[in-house]
Amino acid sequence: MRRVVSLFAVTVTLFRADVLHGVPFTHVTPRKHPGGQNEPQFEEKFFSQTRDHFNFNSVGNGTFNQRYLITDEHWTKGSGPVFFYTGNEGDIWDFALNSGFITELAAQQGALVIFAEHRYYGSSLPFGKDSFGVPQVGLLTVEQALADYAVMIVDLKQQLAAADCPVIVFGGSYGGMLSVYMRLKYPNVVGGALAASAPILSTAGLGDSRQFFRDVTADFEGVSPECSDAVRGAFHQLRELAERQAYSRIQSEFALCKPPSSARDVRQLNGLLRNAFTLMAMLDYPYSTHFWGNMPADPVKVACETMLSGPDLLTNLRDTAGIVYNSTGALSCFDLYLLYVECADPTGCGLGFDSLAWDYQACTEIDLCYESNNVTDMFPPMSFTEKDRELYCSKRWAVVPRPDWLKVQFWGDALSTASNIIFSNGDLDPWANGGVRKSLSSSLIAINISGGAHHLDLRASNEADPESVVSARKMEAELIAQWVKMEKTRLQKTP
Ligand SMILES: *[C@@H]1O[C@H](CO)[C@@H](O)[C@H](O)[C@H]1NC(C)=O
Ligand SMILES: *[C@@H]1O[C@H](CO)[C@@H](O)[C@H](O)[C@H]1NC(C)=O
Ligand SMILES: *[C@@H]1O[C@H](CO)[C@@H](O)[C@H](O)[C@H]1NC(C)=O
Ligand SMILES: *[C@@H]1O[C@H](CO)[C@@H](O)[C@H](O)[C@H]1NC(C)=O
Repeated sequence: MRRVVSLFAVTVTLFRADVLHGVPFTHVTPRKHPGGQNEPQFEEKFFSQTRDHFNFNSVGNGTFNQRYLITDEHWTKGSGPVFFYTGNEGDIWDFALNSGFITELAAQQGALVIFAEHRYYGSSLPFGKDSFGVPQVGLLTVEQALADYAVMIVDLKQQLAAADCPVIVFGGSYGGMLSVYMRLKYPNVVGGALAASAPILSTAGLGDSRQFFRDVTADFEGVSPECSDAVRGAFHQLRELAERQAYSRIQSEFALCKPPSSARDVRQLNGLLRNAFTLMAMLDYPYSTHFWGNMPADPVKVACETMLSGPDLLTNLRDTAGIVYNSTGALSCFDLYLLYVECADPTGCGLGFDSLAWDYQACTEIDLCYESNNVTDMFPPMSFTEKDRELYCSKRWAVVPRPDWLKVQFWGDALSTASNIIFSNGDLDPWANGGVRKSLSSSLIAINISGGAHHLDLRASNEADPESVVSARKMEAELIAQWVKMEKTRLQKTP
């Protein structure tokens, strides 16, 4: 998921100079984003945040500037609710500009809107360009991020004379997981959560390691079985070439910048190709988007047309990957190690500093041991076991993952004593079945969005929206209005 998005997002953005060169240390830098006319006018600000919430005597003895975006254009000052987006693994502007539903809802319900950037992402680097060294990176944990949000909410409410204003948190993907956790850990601060496409179960090691790529495959099979068969056939041909070590042929078939020269390079190529399908499945929206790179409308359908219409399977596979990696048409060759980074998240970590942060999280608390096997899915067998993860992570970050921690700390599937959480999922989204699909009580509500991809419901309304997402948003709006009312009563009773 990243810079795009996500969770696991994989991003296709190259290193950004502003990120590479560290963060300007001005305390408050208001900036209007030069967005389109209908885009919300956020002001960009920085919050002086505690580096280490849980140790008064450590390397984290100090503060850093945490970025957030705010707009009060719809707020009923002093009484309207606060809608707070718990930022995930990337630049917060990307989430703010791709979650238009939250501002649409704010206009209906008179809410203040805040998008907070997750520590270690975007320009919220606690130690500037040194943030990814050891031990500094150690302050990158889910718990620290949640504490950041809780502290920020309490402080901003005070500054804005909003003490009696209910707070509802929103998030998509890993951001949706954080919204759930906020409601579990800080019900004193947060009245309810909309968790869109939040795979809280699979990332806590609850589930089937084959589920993710099986569900990616199902999207392509859903267009037509010939489509997934063509993908299988193309990967089979690639495998035969690799077995014969026909490396220069592989280079020309896939327009690679350099010929592969080892099994590792072939694995990298397979990973890069598989990742293109993953991204198209996640971002299979009915209109074109610019969230994680540029995606055409209905990318899975476009991919299947490409897989089935070209001269031969290998060319078709290359052109299908080009939908993701060559969306500008400006790519002269595929650079295997520049376009895709293998990491502790088999669905991709993206590129740039954000990919380091996500890799570290996937090496510590967030468990993403997903495999493809060419039986329950259409991809080459690529396993990623707990053992593989452990080896990789100890080498890369000198850490040993704790696969059981997340489910102890954030309740796993034993959620029945929680309340006021919406778990929304689209049935096209390969993350959906890693999340909560059935309502658990009258205030732990699962919503299915038929024909919906990764957190479609958080996006702004669009005329191409399926009816299912229109009614999902309606239901979400009603539940949130109820929670705001309940929470208002609670806050007014609290002295
Ligand atoms: C914490 O900060 C204070 C004041 O800047 C400094 O004197 C002290 O050495 C720091 N402690 C640690 C453990 O870094
Ligand atoms: C990228 O797209 C352009 C335009 O379609 C095409 O000419 C070029 O060959 C593509 N590059 C690769 C590496 O496939
Ligand atoms: C997938 O399995 C089939 C049937 O066993 C085999 O022929 C094919 O080569 C496999 N494909 C890959 C990429 O391993
Ligand atoms: C959503 O869809 C899943 C998978 O089809 C199903 O198991 C579940 O019961 C549905 N949940 C709701 C709330 O309709």
